[in-house]
Amino acid sequence: MKKLKNKDLITVADLSCQDIESIFKMAASLKKKNQKLLPGKKLGLIFNKPSTRTRVSFEVGIYDLGGIGIYLTRQDLQIGRGESLKDTALTLSRYLDGIMIRTYSHEDVVDLARFANIPIINGLTDLLHPCQALSDFFTIKEYKKNIKNLKIGYIGDGNNVAHSLVLLSSLTGVNITLASPRNYFIDNKIRDQAMEFAKKSSSQIILTTDPKEAARKADVLYTDVWVSMGQESEKANKRKIFKGYQINEDLLKLAKDDVIVMHCLPAHRGEEITDSVIDGSHSVVFDQAENRLHTQKAIMALLL
Ligand code: CP
Ligand code: NVA
Repeated sequence: MKKLKNKDLITVADLSCQDIESIFKMAASLKKKNQKLLPGKKLGLIFNKPSTRTRVSFEVGIYDLGGIGIYLTRQDLQIGRGESLKDTALTLSRYLDGIMIRTYSHEDVVDLARFANIPIINGLTDLLHPCQALSDFFTIKEYKKNIKNLKIGYIGDGNNVAHSLVLLSSLTGVNITLASPRNYFIDNKIRDQAMEFAKKSSSQIILTTDPKEAARKADVLYTDVWVSMGQESEKANKRKIFKGYQINEDLLKLAKDDVIVMHCLPAHRGEEITDSVIDGSHSVVFDQAENRLHTQKAIMALLL
């Protein structure tokens, strides 16, 4: 358990299988019974993009653990007026016990972690969303018990959520087929990193343009918005390109009978997922949202 103390969580790729297990174990224990494991600890929460789940689950989470959260945005910080990331990191390290940051550039989070002397938790960048993937796998474990050799069918954009899911799949021996339109596959570097991990875990990673291939015999069907935060100008174009990339009743029929349907939320109902599927009996999206709280409490308890 001590292994994770004072570490950052920038990407799931930095975690060992043992670390991942420790997070799941702690999350299960805190979900069963809350414990004030971080009395008096202070967590800074920097948000340069909007958030419902991440903000509220981290704020409630640190409070549950006995600490406090301080919500900060670019507009509130001197960083918005040009103070350097380095000086900000060094200053905040003198007041806080950890920082969760959601921002655009992944490099900014890497830099913040390099300059700060306290744990940095990535709450989403344009590249990755590690807390999401960890809590999603915790949810999958709750439903499916043994995750090894399960098939995830991911339908949609090769985005930050897809990147963290493919990395975590490749680390834990989960098979994942990602169906995206040509030119919207996952990032090549992330793919190569995942392929490397897959050699050890024997996980199968398949990229395709065919949503049916991803859905066929899937244990988990997963989707995310076609247009991520920061891509607003691409909205009209992406809506056209992604049209067939929707989890609907027809696609659901191709998956296993006991398939669970996941979405990190917020959802654009009628685009990447239909009302009937997200509200249907296979959907676990609100359990997923709830588990952000338990998993992130575990992450904070282990890191801070
Ligand atoms: N899934 C997720 O991170 O949601 P928010 O953008 O609401 O935080
Ligand atoms: N891919 C989405 C995830 C939101 C939680 C985005 O970046 O907007």
